[in-house]
Amino acid sequence: MIEIAVKAGHAHKQRDDAVVLPLLDGRKLTESGKALQDATGRILPSFLRKFDVTGKFGASRTLYDVEGTHTQRVMLIGAGEEKKLTLQKLRSLSVNVARKLERSGARDVSVYLTELSVKGATFADKVQAVAEGVWLGLYSFEKYKTSKQERGRALRSLTIMVPSRRELEIAQEAVDRARAVASGTNFARDLANEPGNICTPEFLGDQAQALSHKQLNVTVMDKKAIEKAGFTALLAVNQGSANEPRFIVLDYKGGKEGDAAIALVGKGLTFDAGGISIKPAAQMDEMKYDMCGSAAVLGIFKAVTEMNLPVNLLGVIPSTENMLGAAAYKPGDVITSYKGITIEVQNTDAEGRIILADALAYAVEQKPAEIIDFATLTGACVIALGGQATGLMGTDEKLKAGLKLSGTHTHDRVWELPMFDEYQEQIKSDIADIKNVGGREAGTITAACFLSRFIDDVAWAHLDIAGTAWNMKGTDISAKGATGAGVRLMVDYLSRRAG
Ligand code: BES
Ligand code: ZN
Ligand code: ZN
Repeated sequence: MIEIAVKAGHAHKQRDDAVVLPLLDGRKLTESGKALQDATGRILPSFLRKFDVTGKFGASRTLYDVEGTHTQRVMLIGAGEEKKLTLQKLRSLSVNVARKLERSGARDVSVYLTELSVKGATFADKVQAVAEGVWLGLYSFEKYKTSKQERGRALRSLTIMVPSRRELEIAQEAVDRARAVASGTNFARDLANEPGNICTPEFLGDQAQALSHKQLNVTVMDKKAIEKAGFTALLAVNQGSANEPRFIVLDYKGGKEGDAAIALVGKGLTFDAGGISIKPAAQMDEMKYDMCGSAAVLGIFKAVTEMNLPVNLLGVIPSTENMLGAAAYKPGDVITSYKGITIEVQNTDAEGRIILADALAYAVEQKPAEIIDFATLTGACVIALGGQATGLMGTDEKLKAGLKLSGTHTHDRVWELPMFDEYQEQIKSDIADIKNVGGREAGTITAACFLSRFIDDVAWAHLDIAGTAWNMKGTDISAKGATGAGVRLMVDYLSRRAG
């Protein structure tokens, strides 16, 4: 990640490779732009008149060697109509600027973006958004490219300019928050972008172990330990795979001793072939992303540890592949889960809920204050919400309201689906307590109904990230591939909980 600093000072005095100034609709400059214009005489006004510069959102123009400045370039970036600005537009503007600068060959740059006014946002929110945009937008996964992409001279440092020295401290704190959020998000992206032959359950366990820290204790159970503990549902899904399962427990003690932890549970399916109910070949490769729930959980722990957040957290990750080996579990099988609830397997491709059953039951035993699970659980959720929102279900109104608030604030958005009692009928089994599919109707909800059976009365929210966890076209703030969905949402939620 490139270095981001904060500083106060006039645009015409900066000596970097580029100075970036916003240009609003109707060719309106902001304060710093006007100050630069005053310091540089006629160049800027005449430029603004002569060219088709409009201030249209995202459009940019660059001037070189402007007399009266000390910078190589002045970049004007269109910010559109000021009253239409949001924090997400600021993030995406910042991504846009960072990518353009990276291509331009500039190494050290200053940006004047925080003087734009954004409705409902504090100054610190704006600084955080700009820094997040840069770090999230410059992410790429090039580990397996043997000839590195032509990048020219890559961007080295970016300075977020603030109005005066009085704002420096608040700005620095906001940049520090952004650094932790981005490092957690990019870590989640890195894990999820790894191919299935590298990112096995064992690999996930090693990655979790490597997060260990004085306040973070990590335990990774191998197959033997899993058998001993009795996570039978996880073992059933693992039967068809040559790679052993792992059960990962993270224990972060940043809060008061004795305070109940918030439990985060993540689906760690490192490759989902569907099992005997095999998936069609098209896009099956994308099922390496079926561990994005666990990647989100690990990313959250990374961010939280970096921030030293004063909360207690419990992380639980069941991890396996879902394959078709000779010993694979079969449609029609009945599994007795860790909790004792019996599950009739009607479709081996509905494996996520099965492994989560044991992880949730284990989490409940630890008596957490609340449980939030992250899972690429249903194709139906992709159909319902697409890539714009994570599916939210659960039993606790306050918890759900908190997640909605953080979703809006971070733009890592969630949308609630109902969990009316009547949906529970769909997972009744003729021969066991429940079956693992509820039919075509309301597939996302009946999957959540299945999970709810393992929760008892703990406050619980389920996040179906099937549509949001990866994007093969890329989004405004994410490259093609894993997005890190859930990390920004949860770090914001936990920060608010921590006060
Ligand atoms: N991992 C998939 C869900 C999924 C599918 C996520 C496509 C993202 C994109 C999950 O294990 C699964 O296969 N679910 C089945 C359940 C069905 C058999 C009841 C599904 O959604 O088709
Ligand atoms: Zn599946
Ligand atoms: Zn799956």
